[in-house]
Amino acid sequence: MANARSSPEEFAFTNRPASARPAAPGDRISCRATNPLSIQDDLSKVFLDERQAKATTATRLFRNDGIFAAIAKTVLPAYFESKRARFSIWSTGCSSGEEVYSMAMIALNEFERAKRRPLFEAFGTDINPQRIGEARLGVYGRPSRDAFGRNYWLLLDRYAEIGPHQVRMGEELLASCRFSLFDMRKRPKKHTFFFIVCNHVLQYYDTDGQKLIIENLKAVLNPGGYLYLEGLTEACLADAGLRKAGGVPHLFVTSAGR
Ligand SMILES: C[S@@+](CC[C@H](N)C(=O)[O-])C[C@H]1O[C@@H](n2cnc3c(N)ncnc32)[C@H](O)[C@@H]1O
Repeated sequence: MANARSSPEEFAFTNRPASARPAAPGDRISCRATNPLSIQDDLSKVFLDERQAKATTATRLFRNDGIFAAIAKTVLPAYFESKRARFSIWSTGCSSGEEVYSMAMIALNEFERAKRRPLFEAFGTDINPQRIGEARLGVYGRPSRDAFGRNYWLLLDRYAEIGPHQVRMGEELLASCRFSLFDMRKRPKKHTFFFIVCNHVLQYYDTDGQKLIIENLKAVLNPGGYLYLEGLTEACLADAGLRKAGGVPHLFVTSAGR
């Protein structure tokens, strides 16, 4: 399982000189702003080799307040107004799934507060098969008491089983969250979504890679739906056909949308 405590920010990436030999398994690979990945790069050493993946797939429950505030304050109210049948959300580089379950807990709670039937489904995809296996299990090390605030502990208590050493996602979460292997450099075919989250991923890619990914995500966004894109460069944003939304950092609608 991904180490819930570590994060890419804490990982000491070292620069890869332009003339360096191709990276071998276990080499520390520079990426993000210093040496971003291109569309054609082999992702396996960055995201699949377990020695790199400990850092590059790091995630944790309730990691990102911004996403949860966006769901509760902006995205779900817009979905309720839209009269769409189903609230469908997708986390595009979900690693071991904590982000998906966290979003699902927020959404289920908001459906209840609004006294609405939870017509809701959450999808998580990643290129790392081991992380997708962990996501499907939905069992994680118990977070430390101060890992997140009381409101999130209350949700966890409600929708998961909190044991002395582990937390186990409950039936309602397991039934509404699905996980599969998928490379977001490809365009998804079968489904469309009202909310798409790409969090702590885009910063690994160069501008062309980011543009390709954003076009793929926009292609499956419901009209009036929202994108949460963290790590987008200004260069990419300038011609991505997106507008900032709801005054929430990283939240966007398409220029053609609302
Ligand atoms: C740092 S983790 C972020 C996990 C989660 N989104 C979060 O913010 O906590 C980045 C994840 O993106 C995945 N990833 C990177 N490139 C991808 C791609 N092209 N398609 C799907 N997943 C990708 C990696 O395997 C890794 O698990």
